[in-house]
Amino acid sequence: MSEFVKIVEVGPRDGLQNEKTPLTLDDRRQLILDLMQTGLQAIEVGSCVSAKWVPQMADSDVLFAGLPKDPNIQFSLLTPNLKGFESALAVGCKEVAVFTAASESFTRKNINCSIDESFEKFSDVMREAKAHNIRVRGYVSCMVDCPYEGAIDPQQVAKVSQRLLDMGCYEVSLGETIGTATPDRVKKVWDACLAELDTTVLAGHFHNTYGMAIANIYQSLLQGIRVFDSSIAGLGGCPYAKGASGNVSTEDLYYLLSNMGYETGIQLDALMQASRNISNVLQRNNPSNYANAYWQKACA
Ligand code: HMG
Ligand code: MG
Repeated sequence: MSEFVKIVEVGPRDGLQNEKTPLTLDDRRQLILDLMQTGLQAIEVGSCVSAKWVPQMADSDVLFAGLPKDPNIQFSLLTPNLKGFESALAVGCKEVAVFTAASESFTRKNINCSIDESFEKFSDVMREAKAHNIRVRGYVSCMVDCPYEGAIDPQQVAKVSQRLLDMGCYEVSLGETIGTATPDRVKKVWDACLAELDTTVLAGHFHNTYGMAIANIYQSLLQGIRVFDSSIAGLGGCPYAKGASGNVSTEDLYYLLSNMGYETGIQLDALMQASRNISNVLQRNNPSNYANAYWQKACA
């Protein structure tokens, strides 16, 4: 039997949080309904953050509440503090994600506090999550470079990741936030993390600004990482990382993994339909090489 690699679809959150014109709740919902047909087992629905900060993610709790439930899919919401967590809890969310960074400046720009202060806020979230049996995933942005501070020390990434795990996160996803990394630098970060941590509690989250995401994922696979975040149609970016483009596309990630013999659970036709639908809604060319090749072949 082939080895399973888990894909966490972050398009409805990371993908849409950076759109100039926020999508309607109906369009956001349709994207998630399309993704639910693909065999993806984990979908990030949105963020319970301040709508003043990220208007694109407004009413993510309402969106969550209106989704049909599927026991085979883990839905999640980003919750940077107790207020966000309470919104997620109220709509029956069973998994949330907290997010900090390995860079002080990025943390300040993103969530308006220091790294230490972010952990204080997360301790409230963790306490309540434990009491309500909610799983918590952690994110560490700027695993390689920070848009404000430049190169980040891999030891610092390992330290922040360890802190999140010690606090009770079941998994930590390392964010290559601005997509500048190359595999040699990614290797050094995993080396630092894996000196202390197991591959089973780590995930990779690669943005594709310089076209290096697939190479970085390949490097991560070589080092034993088996969970990756991606966005359908390569959507996304972070509002607090100017110039950074979307995540690796789920389509290109699927192509890499399936051709390397990994199982992903994904149904290709449904994935391509979801990718085509959201590209039509946004009236945008899809940056995924594989999606473009697939449709060219299908139409030939
Ligand atoms: P703050 O201004 O420091 O918060 O923002 P505050 O506690 O002082 O509250 C100020 C106002 O915000 C109050 O409302 C609060 O009620 C409200 P007012 O009294 O002024 O009307 N507020 C909230 N409203 C809704 N939901 C909440 C919430 N908390 C406070 N949870 C805060 C702190 C974290 C809220 C703010 O900085 C924020 O919302 N930031 C957005 C961060 C974000 O969503 N960033 C993008 C996601 S992270 C990412 O993309 C990286 C990742 O993909 C990995 C990678 O690629 O590296 C994960
Ligand atoms: Mg991201």
